[in-house]
Amino acid sequence: MKVLTDDGNIDIEAVWFEDGMVHMVDQRLLPHNLEVLEMDDHLQVADAIREMAVRGAPAIGATAAYGMALASLNGANLDEAAMDLKSTRPTAFDLFHAVDWMIEALLKGEDAVRSSRSYASMIVEKCRAIGRYGAPLIKNGSKVMTHCNAGALATVDVGTALAPMREAHDQGKEFFVFVSETRPRMQGMMLTAWELSNEGIDCAIISDGASGHFIRESVDLIIVGADRIAANGDFANKIGTFEKAVLADRFSVPFYVAAPVSTYDPSLSQGDDIIIEQRDGEEVTHIMGNRIAPIGIKALNPSFDVTPAELVDGFITELGVLKPDELHRLGGV
Ligand code: MRU
Repeated sequence: MKVLTDDGNIDIEAVWFEDGMVHMVDQRLLPHNLEVLEMDDHLQVADAIREMAVRGAPAIGATAAYGMALASLNGANLDEAAMDLKSTRPTAFDLFHAVDWMIEALLKGEDAVRSSRSYASMIVEKCRAIGRYGAPLIKNGSKVMTHCNAGALATVDVGTALAPMREAHDQGKEFFVFVSETRPRMQGMMLTAWELSNEGIDCAIISDGASGHFIRESVDLIIVGADRIAANGDFANKIGTFEKAVLADRFSVPFYVAAPVSTYDPSLSQGDDIIIEQRDGEEVTHIMGNRIAPIGIKALNPSFDVTPAELVDGFITELGVLKPDELHRLGGV
């Protein structure tokens, strides 16, 4: 991922393994501070996932893979380490996929660090393929909308929903992106807008509540990421995704989901079976640590919602763009 700094451009991944430690960009501090956390224990890695220093389903998966590598290097009990990591965030399927993938590699006697690095590289390669398959959907002059952050920060590098935009931009297409701010944690405003502007892609932040206005007036295409896709194509993504899909359907705007196979969970037949993470109400009542809501008021904070498959025009995957009833071709874990 390209990052513009005062000292020039740098190229950085969201998370990597170096000198026996997991390194990750602290995404809670972006866009104004680029700080890298270093961890040598899988429990620190689990805390970082829970506290959302790293977030986005595929990046959570890669981070957990690195966490398993640390557990192995430190001689920790691998089943317990797997539970420590899996108990951090319940909705993102990549987390479970990655930990099981690492356990399988370790049981085969493969090198822990090399395996975790292969897992992360594999995810980035899948994102590049998603970019190649998705780019033709974006035309010169297109007005695209996205939600939350499904960019390089969410996937180690490249992104899922942002991958077709990066590729289309590299192909010289000119287009515009509406970035919805994504309350309560504002991943759209803080992370997606930062990534797109680093890449030189024209965009504007809109408040979440302005989505309907722009979908009716201007948007040609919506691309979002996913945290878990059920066998029938219902999928969970950041809260606020569902209403965009309903609006897209109402105003005949094509609605696409970009995700790698590691997000597809064929063990769940439908979206109702997806566990939705409920986070602390303080994320809603407070902004940047400042209480905005009246003292004592209750707040509800589901982190994700489920969009039914019937509202999805296609899933942009590393195997191509699939209709919901073609998802079985992904195979799954
Ligand atoms: O709570 P977050 O920030 O981890 O949620 C992230 C999202 O909902 C993304 O859209 C999803 O993980 C896809 S990331 C490529």
